[in-house]
Amino acid sequence: MMRKTLVASLLVASARAGCTVESPRCYADRLYVRILGHDNVAMGPITPQYCAQLCANGKFALAGTEFGSECYCGDKLTGTPRKSTECKTACNGDRKQQCGGFWSISVFDVNCSGAPEPPPKGPPKLVNPCLGDTKFSKMPFCNSSLAIDERVADAVKRMTLQEKIGALGTDTPAISSLGLPRYNWWSEASSGVADAGNLQTTKFPYPITTGMSFNRSLWTMVGRQIGREARAAMNVGQAFSSFWAPVINLAREPRWGRNIETPGEDPYLTGEYAENFVRGFQEAPEDPYHVQASACCKHYVANEMESTTQPDGEHQDREHVDSEVSMQDLVDSYMRPFQTCVEKGRVTSLMCSYNAVNGVPSCANDWLLQTIARDNWGFDGYITSDCDADDDVFSKHNYTKTAEEAVKAVLHAGTDIDCVSFVPQHAQSALDKKLISEEDIDARLKMLFRVRMRLSHFDPTGPLNSISYSEICSDYALKLSQDAVRQSAVLIKNLQGTLPLDRATVGTIAVIGPNTNLSQSDAGYYGPKHPCGNRFYTLLDALSSEGQVKTVSALGVPTVLSEDQSGIPAAVELAKGADTVVLAVGTDLSWAAEGHDAKNISFTAAQQALIEKVAEAAKKPVILVTMTATPLDLSAVLANPKIGAVLHLGQPSVAVLGIAPILYGESSPAGRTIQTVYKSSYQDQISIFDFGMRPGPSKYARPDCTDHTVSRCPKGTNPGRTYRFYTGQAVVPFGFGLSYTSFVYSIIKQPQRLSLDALGGLLGKLNGPGQTFPRTADVESAMMSSSWSQLAEFVVKVTNIGGRDSDDVVLGFLTPPSAGKDGVPLKILFGFQRVHIKAGATATVTLYPSMLDFTRVSPDGHFSVLAGEYGVHFGVAETHAFGMGYVEGQRILGAESPTRYFV
Ligand SMILES: *[C@@H]1O[C@H](CO)[C@@H](O)[C@H](O)[C@H]1NC(C)=O
Ligand SMILES: *[C@@H]1O[C@H](CO)[C@@H](O)[C@H](O)[C@H]1NC(C)=O
Ligand SMILES: *[C@@H]1O[C@H](CO)[C@@H](O)[C@H](O)[C@H]1NC(C)=O
Ligand SMILES: *[C@@H]1O[C@H](CO)[C@@H](O)[C@H](O)[C@H]1NC(C)=O
Ligand SMILES: *[C@@H]1O[C@H](CO)[C@@H](O)[C@H](O)[C@H]1NC(C)=O
Ligand SMILES: *[C@@H]1O[C@H](CO)[C@@H](O)[C@H](O)[C@H]1NC(C)=O
Repeated sequence: MMRKTLVASLLVASARAGCTVESPRCYADRLYVRILGHDNVAMGPITPQYCAQLCANGKFALAGTEFGSECYCGDKLTGTPRKSTECKTACNGDRKQQCGGFWSISVFDVNCSGAPEPPPKGPPKLVNPCLGDTKFSKMPFCNSSLAIDERVADAVKRMTLQEKIGALGTDTPAISSLGLPRYNWWSEASSGVADAGNLQTTKFPYPITTGMSFNRSLWTMVGRQIGREARAAMNVGQAFSSFWAPVINLAREPRWGRNIETPGEDPYLTGEYAENFVRGFQEAPEDPYHVQASACCKHYVANEMESTTQPDGEHQDREHVDSEVSMQDLVDSYMRPFQTCVEKGRVTSLMCSYNAVNGVPSCANDWLLQTIARDNWGFDGYITSDCDADDDVFSKHNYTKTAEEAVKAVLHAGTDIDCVSFVPQHAQSALDKKLISEEDIDARLKMLFRVRMRLSHFDPTGPLNSISYSEICSDYALKLSQDAVRQSAVLIKNLQGTLPLDRATVGTIAVIGPNTNLSQSDAGYYGPKHPCGNRFYTLLDALSSEGQVKTVSALGVPTVLSEDQSGIPAAVELAKGADTVVLAVGTDLSWAAEGHDAKNISFTAAQQALIEKVAEAAKKPVILVTMTATPLDLSAVLANPKIGAVLHLGQPSVAVLGIAPILYGESSPAGRTIQTVYKSSYQDQISIFDFGMRPGPSKYARPDCTDHTVSRCPKGTNPGRTYRFYTGQAVVPFGFGLSYTSFVYSIIKQPQRLSLDALGGLLGKLNGPGQTFPRTADVESAMMSSSWSQLAEFVVKVTNIGGRDSDDVVLGFLTPPSAGKDGVPLKILFGFQRVHIKAGATATVTLYPSMLDFTRVSPDGHFSVLAGEYGVHFGVAETHAFGMGYVEGQRILGAESPTRYFV
């Protein structure tokens, strides 16, 4: 009886879920008078019910279908009704059935409740040949009780040579010997699942924003949500399983076009981000045995430039460049986040980069791929080439004389899959010329199938198959994406409490600047083009608080790069009439993105003029919101008393809505900068072509030299890159960030003297050939057995002495002996912790440096113990005068006992 009721109520519940479509009306919908707008929110086959769902996601009242594959959303309807026969309504996802009609739209009320309406089923992208009673299900590769390598070997053995060759390319054709349809290895997901068939997916802020939160659990939860949406999309047949995120190259150069995709300039911070994002993405709590979705740390390595032509005519781009990097910089800067990603993040993929490193293209570099990643770090996963990077080995780097030799070079180095098709195209002829053998191909395929096995492509249905479509664009996901912006915003300046604003007294806000409405243009970059509800929220939406606050807006200058100043007078008038002025300035994808580097680290003259004139005209000091991915010189902005506040958001994209609680004071900012802000003269001193981290003479001409004979140009000087090496005065230093409240730090426990004997012992064992990096597990066990974590522990008391509850980010830095000399960094970040502290309350934060923080790396890339006195401090000195916590500890003596050598 009980049981029956339960079943009955479940049936009722499931009947109510989804969307109902009642009494659709037919309207003419001509090209120039589209009655629900031009924004088609469908990305593939639809049903009227699914269209209603897409519109419900954006809280629209009306939905309309047209041509059977288009869906429009709106709130108001004005148009010419047509006879209902001109619109068809019965479509079920088959493109040949036209629901709606030819320039006629079938419009209906949005009426959805309960679990979301799923997309119409197309042919699924993933097919498990081992399910059910098929001929494959009895084969060893389908037997989940066998060891994975045994299954992999069986699968590879069954493939024909032609299938094997096809499987070396990212868009792998069907493999009938294994019952597999086509599989595409290439998907993107660094700020949300991109291109998931006809699904909308959650758009997160770019990593250049989320990095600033210094919150490991946020990175894990963002990674996890993206990974869950990926798996949910696989479950409804809309996605493959391998995603090429995150980007963990260092934002080592302010002009680099892809800074937006990175979590900043510091190798330790970047490694922490990689570990947390990747583990969140790959590891589902309900299934510890499988990979939820495969992540990929890219681009390995020293890839940090796109395409730049200097005034002297010197040109470099990523596909030709041979990044000349000292072993010292490779080992202690560029490669370090990759080691963390592999060893602590347990990532299942790496991507070899376009560039060469010291003469060897990354994808043909067996030292990078085999010796370091696989042998040294124990990488267990597949390596993909960047797209066409294998081809570039031959055609751009001219590293080999023939295409077939390039195939040999990349396969032997350990590149498993070729994006897109160079290797499959030339593999047969490389076999014919006996440059490679079938075993070489098998070795690569085994890496690929291992990952597919771990993704559960050949296993019985398990918990991952139940990850529901309703997790995509859920309220939780939207809140998380917006909260990431709240957590990451950095308050750089705040005179006399310019911020926060009060909704009750703020009056009319004028939002002025070329980034006022930024989000639609950048949303699709390495993330969903169609965010949840197709809502492209802007800073204007965040300020208006759903209409509670009156806003007016003007761009002032049409785009971030435009030098057209004709709109400034109107913007000035708007500012004069408003009670509060917010300037929205910075960069967008036209300024810098994949394929092109920024040309400048200053605002354009037009943006500068807009800022000055609007600030001058406003009734009271203005709020400047910087949305930049490449840091711009803020000297003038910081010196201008008419600019009351500077709030830095990075590139928040549509999640910018989440900044409202900071603007209106429900939450206090606690983000910290992750890129050094340099003076504009920096860009004249050092070329982007110079990969040196450490200060010194550059072999490249000064970038401001306009003589077209490069040899006549004076050489540049590297002032050092990033806070670890920059010898100049930063405009805004790394780690900077203010709050609405004040903090006091005191150190209640710290080491005085640290024995580095265990470290010496560990490094002493590093003399095997090719063993460059101490393994993370070895470092951890050396720390464990010498009680390092207790001996090296710092306990910092953090007291919130202001009147507001707030988060604080505690940053711990070490200053090594002989800092700034002989390649030793000026300081290093050794730990960080984000904490929430109520007004008047105290928290204790415990941090300890790694043993490896007491080493130096020699010019030829060898680690050695760096004994001597280390300085330590918590917080950033430049923020102390603004009420932020800052404390210096006593110096610590790091020493090796001389007797160690005699016992
Ligand atoms: C909405 O759908 C429910 C069924 O799920 C139906 O009972 C109701 O009448 C519909 N409302 C409108 C306004 O169409
Ligand atoms: C799977 O492998 C196990 C272990 O070798 C074996 O006992 C079992 O019979 C195999 N199952 C099938 C269906 O072949
Ligand atoms: C490199 O190889 C490509 C393709 O074979 C050729 O077009 C180009 O001229 C070569 N460049 C150099 C510098 O040899
Ligand atoms: C920004 O977008 C909103 C909503 O689409 C629009 O009303 C406003 O005019 C736009 N502002 C500017 C300055 O383009
Ligand atoms: C950078 O911008 C500044 C100010 O807009 C301008 O004076 C300078 O010439 C620009 N530099 C380059 C390299 O474009
Ligand atoms: C870190 O992020 C998580 C996830 O958003 C959040 O729950 C937590 O409160 C944050 N921690 C702090 C100290 O802000």
